[in-house]
Amino acid sequence: MLGFAKKAKTPGDTQPTGPRHVAIIMDGNGRWAKKKHLPRALGHKKGVEVVREIVRHAGKTGLEALSLYAFSSENWKRPEDEISDLMGLLRAFIKSDLDEFAANDVRLKIIGNYRALAPDIVDLIDNAIARTAHNSRTTLAVALNYGSQDELVRAATAAAAEGAITAEGIEAHLDTADLPPLDLLIRTSGEQRLSNFMLWQAAYAELWFTDTLWPDFTPAEFDTALAEFGKRERRYGGR
Ligand code: IPE
Ligand code: IPE
Ligand code: MG
Repeated sequence: MLGFAKKAKTPGDTQPTGPRHVAIIMDGNGRWAKKKHLPRALGHKKGVEVVREIVRHAGKTGLEALSLYAFSSENWKRPEDEISDLMGLLRAFIKSDLDEFAANDVRLKIIGNYRALAPDIVDLIDNAIARTAHNSRTTLAVALNYGSQDELVRAATAAAAEGAITAEGIEAHLDTADLPPLDLLIRTSGEQRLSNFMLWQAAYAELWFTDTLWPDFTPAEFDTALAEFGKRERRYGGR
């Protein structure tokens, strides 16, 4: 049975209290910097600080998985200096935060084709994945060079190689195959679009949008989103 249908409500079912898997499209770093007359790079730098706070906080809420959209397959269209700033921040983040993940039972996972990143970053990532592979409290899935259409093409190709293409077959080959079904998708910065993120996984996810720019996002607002999720009635097409 498909992951997103696993929790389909049947009469007598009670709504689970909290989401198992939350994903965030972390948007608005550039606008935050612009508003403050700061260089864009400082918006991204503050954005990483917020990532750290939210990861710490999410671990305390009992979430099984937190997926963060950090760099899309379309973000290569940006100017070279911005891409280089983002890659620099990624290197620094892995180096500075890996010990904390390891100590806090966080498993690091990457979705997207991260092998196309610079070789030293690929090495850092492979080391971080290996070091946290046996952690089991929360999975932090960071989307790097991720595009959902590309993910679906890869998954469908792999499924086809095994025989007739089925929804279950595709799902089994998604980058997120080992994560719980996506329950809640948050996007900051006021944009209300998916920007090629988790198109399949969002089929029955609850969507929550906020005008807050990512560098201003707080654990309290994360809790607000979780509380809002708790009030939603998920029907999965049933009644
Ligand atoms: C999100 O902030 C970070 C990435 C996409 C890497 P943006 O850089 O997209 O910020 P805005 O949308 O221009 O404000
Ligand atoms: C989506 O944000 C990608 C990430 C947050 C990494 P974008 O800023 O790239 O999305 P668009 O271009 O506004 O759709
Ligand atoms: Mg943006």
